[in-house]
Amino acid sequence: MTNFLKVVVFSLLVISGFWGFSNYGIPQIKPADPPVEEKVDLGAMTMDQFIALGKKNFDGKGTCTLCHNSLGRAPMLDKIGAVSAERLKDARYKGTAKTVEEYLMESLVKPSAFVVSGFGKAGTNDTESPMPDVTGGGIGFNEVETKAVIAYLQDSSGSEVTVEIPKMAPPAEGAAKAEEAPLTTPEAVVNKYGCGACHVIAGQSGSLGPNLSKIGATRNKEYLRQAMLDPDAVIAKGFTAGMMPKNYGEQMKAKELEMLLNYMAGSKK
Ligand code: HEC
Ligand code: HEC
Repeated sequence: MTNFLKVVVFSLLVISGFWGFSNYGIPQIKPADPPVEEKVDLGAMTMDQFIALGKKNFDGKGTCTLCHNSLGRAPMLDKIGAVSAERLKDARYKGTAKTVEEYLMESLVKPSAFVVSGFGKAGTNDTESPMPDVTGGGIGFNEVETKAVIAYLQDSSGSEVTVEIPKMAPPAEGAAKAEEAPLTTPEAVVNKYGCGACHVIAGQSGSLGPNLSKIGATRNKEYLRQAMLDPDAVIAKGFTAGMMPKNYGEQMKAKELEMLLNYMAGSKK
């Protein structure tokens, strides 16, 4: 059963449970109408389920672990609850957040509001963050996904979870299903696999890896294929091994990979 259906069935069970209880358990003058519309509402989700949704988006769609990992490209987030409280007191802090939750929201949607020392874009003296806005094109979180990730960050760092579950329908299951057909444009492939988090490519402007906007002028398709399937075989000058994800060969559909290789090989000026 899909998660969404589970939530619906679960909420119906809860509702019918209360319904039966109020009808037979305690004498009542007039039982209130059961809140039928509530069943498609995120309100039926427990906080544990909401946090689990956050973890799923943190590891998956959010591509957070591409940067927030032990390679040191981005700060570790395992104590981010306590760390956020420190950030708010930092003399360099110029953002508008007042609470840990607000700081986390700001970090996700306006990463440059506060840049952790030593992690800014090269040459900006820590005034510009290399982290993308999670609601922007590259990651494309909606409000539910953004808040679920904040709940997950608070929970996994041992802080109090203050985020409230938005009262909004979860993304339709149909949308996820449709994605299983191969994507049809190079831009869509770049978006789905998060290349723009690290590269200048297809209108995106990541700065952790080489600029790929004219890569076809110097590299042929076979070189690019190897760069995609076995990134550590050749390391682009001035960059470190180990950053570029190694599992694109398994994740991408063959059609998507070919399309992306043709696109890059054809990007010459
Ligand atoms: C392209 C790399 C990259 C990606 C992808 C990325 N981040 Fe970041 N993130 C960074 C860097 C670098 C910093 C430190 C600079 C700054 O303060 O903005 C940072 C900072 C943060 C901070 C503030 C940390 C602190 O100590 O104050 C939070 C919270 C955060 N990221 C969460 C996330 C989440 C959640 C995701 C996924 C939805 C994510 N990041 C995706 C690179 C990334
Ligand atoms: C987490 C950051 C990150 C992500 C995400 C990422 N890359 Fe990379 N990529 C790098 C880094 C760093 C290098 C340079 C080191 C190396 O050559 O392995 C690189 C190297 C490359 C190269 C070789 C460039 C050269 O001149 O040798 C190509 C091509 C490339 N990436 C394409 C992609 C594509 C396409 C995607 C998305 C499907 C992608 N990368 C996603 C970080 C990333």
